[in-house]
Amino acid sequence: MTEEYSNATDALPADFVFGVATSAYQIEGATDQDGRGASIWDDFCRRPGAIIDGSDGSVATDSYRRWADDLDLIRGMGLEAYRFSVAWPRIFPQPGGQVNQRGLDHYERVVDGLLERNIAPHLTLYHWDLPLWLHELGGWTSRETAYAFADYAEAVAARLGDRVSAYATLNEPWCSAFLGYRSGEHAPGIRDHAANQAAIHHLLLAHGLAVARLRESVASQVGIVLNFTPAYPLDPTDERHQEAARRHRLVNDEVFTGPLFQGAYPTQLLDLADGAASHARKGDLETIAAPLDYLGVNYYTRTLVKDAPGAAWPALAHVEPAAGERTAMGWEVFPQGLHDLLRDLHEQSGIPLYVTENGAAFDDPAPGAANGAIVDEHRWRYLLSHIAATNEARRSGVDVRGYFAWSLLDNFEWAFGYTKDFGLVAVDAQTQIRVKKASAERFAALAAAFNMRRQVPL
Ligand code: FCB
Repeated sequence: MTEEYSNATDALPADFVFGVATSAYQIEGATDQDGRGASIWDDFCRRPGAIIDGSDGSVATDSYRRWADDLDLIRGMGLEAYRFSVAWPRIFPQPGGQVNQRGLDHYERVVDGLLERNIAPHLTLYHWDLPLWLHELGGWTSRETAYAFADYAEAVAARLGDRVSAYATLNEPWCSAFLGYRSGEHAPGIRDHAANQAAIHHLLLAHGLAVARLRESVASQVGIVLNFTPAYPLDPTDERHQEAARRHRLVNDEVFTGPLFQGAYPTQLLDLADGAASHARKGDLETIAAPLDYLGVNYYTRTLVKDAPGAAWPALAHVEPAAGERTAMGWEVFPQGLHDLLRDLHEQSGIPLYVTENGAAFDDPAPGAANGAIVDEHRWRYLLSHIAATNEARRSGVDVRGYFAWSLLDNFEWAFGYTKDFGLVAVDAQTQIRVKKASAERFAALAAAFNMRRQVPL
């Protein structure tokens, strides 16, 4: 086993970090504690049919109260970094610009708790829980939200400062813009092309404005986390399918990476009616393209596409079901996609990368009768194969500096409620008792094996 672990990590540099990731709304609960205001997710969860099991994040894994237990779990696994998010509605619960210090007190305890345990805090400012009052003023369709986000970033950085190793502005703006404003599967549940495109630009602008504020007050690393489900042609030899894959990447991926890393929207998207680019004012693209210290990459699976004849631009190509092994989300297990993606992003961005999320939902077996162990073999195979893909990317020269498993805990999986388990640690919904799965033990063993190796000078 140890040999398997060293093979999967043998090209990683000594300063590579292994960690786990979570987000505020998915774990905290305590949605009415210490002056927190409502978020768009509190509201969305009340919509009949929005969440598959009718649940919400009001209790979740109770991590707002049990944060110290969670940090002990991470420490117990020997991991060196924790990626978590701050709930914006805890910091600015209502209009008027007043900072709620009690909200910041909580995150200060978490950050100091991490440092006491020698775990590097990787903090995400926005993991989808927009304050409801901002939504009522237009949410991401409004430019004002970008300015409000910069003020929020400044308030967090003013309190936590350099104690945070890495700040990420946004988590997965694709999901905010496309699931939130186009398919309506996520809060705020809007289905509108123009709103979707406006949201893209205002999210990017929010990122850029926040980077500038963070740079004024901290020396920490500053970056953004993007998600990719890279498109591959169903038939790689068919030119039409290749073109469909290129279009899919343009509309979903390059609409973000273009402004961030080239300072421009892709030219093919410029004449799109009501497109993101139509919202850009003078100076916006310079703001958005401000240099970053790293790019966070969230990868779970790929998209297989074929041509969609006659579909109006920018219609997505037809998405095809994949044949291979799939997770409980129906997502194909395709580790090669992570290798390809890291290589492409290394070329496009030229900056250090972190795998900020990677993981899998599977229907876990019941705890073993003898010792109560949950042997989640599929999840561990998934994680190990993607760590190995990261290792291969590094071997081929990609500057990737860390890997965060999604997720520390089984938690509130958005529109899927509590029906999809991504955790390395199971949580009993009634008692909140945490039980490490086999994947947690193995991830810990892999991190320990890596640690041993780096202590031996190469
Ligand atoms: C990502 C999200 C994360 C979690 C995983 C499964 O898109 O960032 O919160 O839901 O998917």
